[in-house]
Amino acid sequence: MTSSTLLPKILLAVLKGQPKALQDSHYPVWHLAPATGLLNDPNGFIHFQGRFHLFYQWNPLGCQHNHKCWGHWSSADLLHWQHEPIALMPEEEYDRSGCYSGSAVDNQGELTLCYTGNVKFAEGGRTAWQCLAVQNAEGGFDKSGPVIALPEGYTGHVRDPKVWRHENQWYMVLGAQDLALRGKVLLLRSDDLHHWQLLGEIAGSGLGGLGESGYMWECPDLFTLGAETFLICCPQGVAREARRFLNTHPSAYLSGTFSPEQATFEHGALHELDAGFEFYAPQTTLSSDGRRLLVGWMGVPDGEEMRQPTIAQGWIHQMTCVRELSSRDGKLYQQPVRELQALREDEHRFAGRGDDAPVIDARSLELWVESEGELTLNFGNTLILHWHKNQLRLDRRSLENGEWLSRYWEGEARVLQILCDSSSVEIFINEGAGVMSSRYFPSHPAQITVSGSGELRAQYWSLRPCM
Ligand code: FRU
Repeated sequence: MTSSTLLPKILLAVLKGQPKALQDSHYPVWHLAPATGLLNDPNGFIHFQGRFHLFYQWNPLGCQHNHKCWGHWSSADLLHWQHEPIALMPEEEYDRSGCYSGSAVDNQGELTLCYTGNVKFAEGGRTAWQCLAVQNAEGGFDKSGPVIALPEGYTGHVRDPKVWRHENQWYMVLGAQDLALRGKVLLLRSDDLHHWQLLGEIAGSGLGGLGESGYMWECPDLFTLGAETFLICCPQGVAREARRFLNTHPSAYLSGTFSPEQATFEHGALHELDAGFEFYAPQTTLSSDGRRLLVGWMGVPDGEEMRQPTIAQGWIHQMTCVRELSSRDGKLYQQPVRELQALREDEHRFAGRGDDAPVIDARSLELWVESEGELTLNFGNTLILHWHKNQLRLDRRSLENGEWLSRYWEGEARVLQILCDSSSVEIFINEGAGVMSSRYFPSHPAQITVSGSGELRAQYWSLRPCM
């Protein structure tokens, strides 16, 4: 075993940083967040031998996007997560600039990680290797090295393998950028995870009737739900519209018909997956009872992230709650995973005018609201939800210049399920037809002040801390 030079530094960073992070009033009490440092994409989400495993992009040494390792948590119930040995550190030639995102599979009882070894050159430019690592008896991972080099016809931006098994073969979708600088999703096939054949591009900018749709597609994930196949992806550089794709980098999906044999995916238009301010790089897995579960990064790689106040406490970003997916008419529905209901305590109800509603403690909350009138939900003057005539607009003060920025949901909102945890809000609209996920940094205790002449019916609980 070679000795790691990073590991002692990581240990020290965690020993010093974790107590500080845990004291921060913005640190979540039931969402996953880094012990210290920066967290981004969920990786390797899998149900394996009776437990859920969730890996994550982690820089334990600071709040910048450097030194990307794979942290690792596991859980039996999707509520209580325990730390596992750090899974991957960027210490080989082929992953020296970061062990980038990827997925996990059960390879005949061996938990196997498929990830991108990212290599940046001093003189500029980069390359990428798709690599494997297999779990050992101590719960750590032994790297087996690269299995896919940069395919011809693409720049060094090829990453984020999502691998699954179908009829005795392994398939992979991979994010890529072609030489004309258009984002693509590649499909590959293998008998043994080690030898891969590139089958072609199944979606991307300029394909399938999409037109120009971005310069790089990150973090693809392909799965079937009911009669439909969905491809989730993060197309960077998609044009902003008046009310959609307003984040610097959006998260989106396509639905359609997938043929692994012909390596084709016939799909419709690009849909936004979450209409809030922070949501990116989601990944899904199957639970043992057949539910398709999703978890996302409640962050976006943009300039604004580095202004978040938690950086002063040595940590930044968190995951979304785990969500259950379903499909209706080619659209993806997302609802909080049902296990979360076990955290409910202290139930309250209210019916009446918005102006007469009580102030609601929003530190750790699940709130259901039905209304058709004029309502405003004010989260400590830093985030305000306007709900007028079934239209939703979420306003937030920019951390950069204090200006109010808006996000919209394009539909008629009848019922909202709102989850709050310290510095995050997830608004589920019409039983999952839409979601808006956002961070905000209130002075605590976080509260929601309701106002407006509209009538509402509300039911709410505090959620018991479980992390
Ligand atoms: C998405 C992403 C991935 C990459 C990882 C690096 O947020 O840029 O494409 O693998 O983050 O941390």
